[in-house]
Amino acid sequence: MEVYTLANGLTIPKIGFGTWQIPEGELAFQSVSYALGAGYRHIDTAQIYGNEASVGRAIAQSGLERKDIFLTTKIWNDKIGFEDSRASVIESMEKLGVDYLDLVLIHWPNPVASRDRLPWQERNAAVYRALESLYREGKVKAIGVSNFMIHHLEALMETAEIRPHVNQIMLAPGTPQKNLVTYCQSKDILLEAYSPFGTGTLFENEEAGRLAREAGLTLAQLALAWSLDKGFLPLPKSTSPENIQANLAIESLSISSQAVEVLDQLQGVKGQMDPDQVDF
Ligand SMILES: NC(=O)c1ccc[n+]([C@@H]2O[C@H](COP(=O)([O-])OP(=O)(O)OC[C@H]3O[C@@H](n4cnc5c(N)ncnc54)[C@H](OP(=O)(O)O)[C@@H]3O)[C@@H](O)[C@H]2O)c1
Repeated sequence: MEVYTLANGLTIPKIGFGTWQIPEGELAFQSVSYALGAGYRHIDTAQIYGNEASVGRAIAQSGLERKDIFLTTKIWNDKIGFEDSRASVIESMEKLGVDYLDLVLIHWPNPVASRDRLPWQERNAAVYRALESLYREGKVKAIGVSNFMIHHLEALMETAEIRPHVNQIMLAPGTPQKNLVTYCQSKDILLEAYSPFGTGTLFENEEAGRLAREAGLTLAQLALAWSLDKGFLPLPKSTSPENIQANLAIESLSISSQAVEVLDQLQGVKGQMDPDQVDF
């Protein structure tokens, strides 16, 4: 599996397996087991997905060594201080059955839980300090954020001692987030592309279908090629063994610059929610 290298030198497999909306229990266990068997070495979960225990069970039973799997989780919105954030990461590690995490992210920058209680800048600074402390202790190998826009990143970096290694945001055809992408790339923050198929809405898009036929690719391949062409790290989710396998075959994908431009402008695919307005 090809890798990107984070600003701290840690390598991260170029594609990750997304697990949002895969319910805890047999389906999460089977999907992650199948993904690891197919060759994925990077699993993306989150406290709020509720499936950390099944993800951990799949990792434990995979027969793979811990060091060969890149594992990410995310601190949920109800954590607003240093102590509760730290404790939640330790709890995630227990559920996942691991003694370190490769990457932990702050899931959202301006959650409802803290919106009326304290400025989001203060909440993010406290949660991030918890991440920095876990990073220094070696319990977490890289740290970062998710759904952070430029103003959230700028505020965070006023107090952060360690620059975020990753920003995981919605990046899919129709949502290229060019200003944010340029900003992150200028700061050496790797962009992880969540919902690379617009949570499946891409598959109903006629224009994308036409472009895929012209390029001789499936729609999934077209979207992954678009993502990789831009230097993003896509996180496709699937519970279908056939799709899990297909989404891993990225090595020889290429896409024309004209197709990239048309996909940048694509209409009708689910996009990024405004993190300052979300109701969770
Ligand atoms: N940080 C955040 O706030 C955030 C938010 C959203 C997502 N994420 C991360 O990003 C991951 C992916 O995003 P997502 O879950 O929104 O969805 P997605 O990966 O954009 O799309 C998943 C949908 O596409 C279908 N699909 C997958 N591969 C396919 C293929 N090769 N051909 C046809 N259909 C295919 C899946 O159906 P089948 O299951 O039937 O294959 C499912 O309906 C998440 O699981 C999560 O890890 C993070």
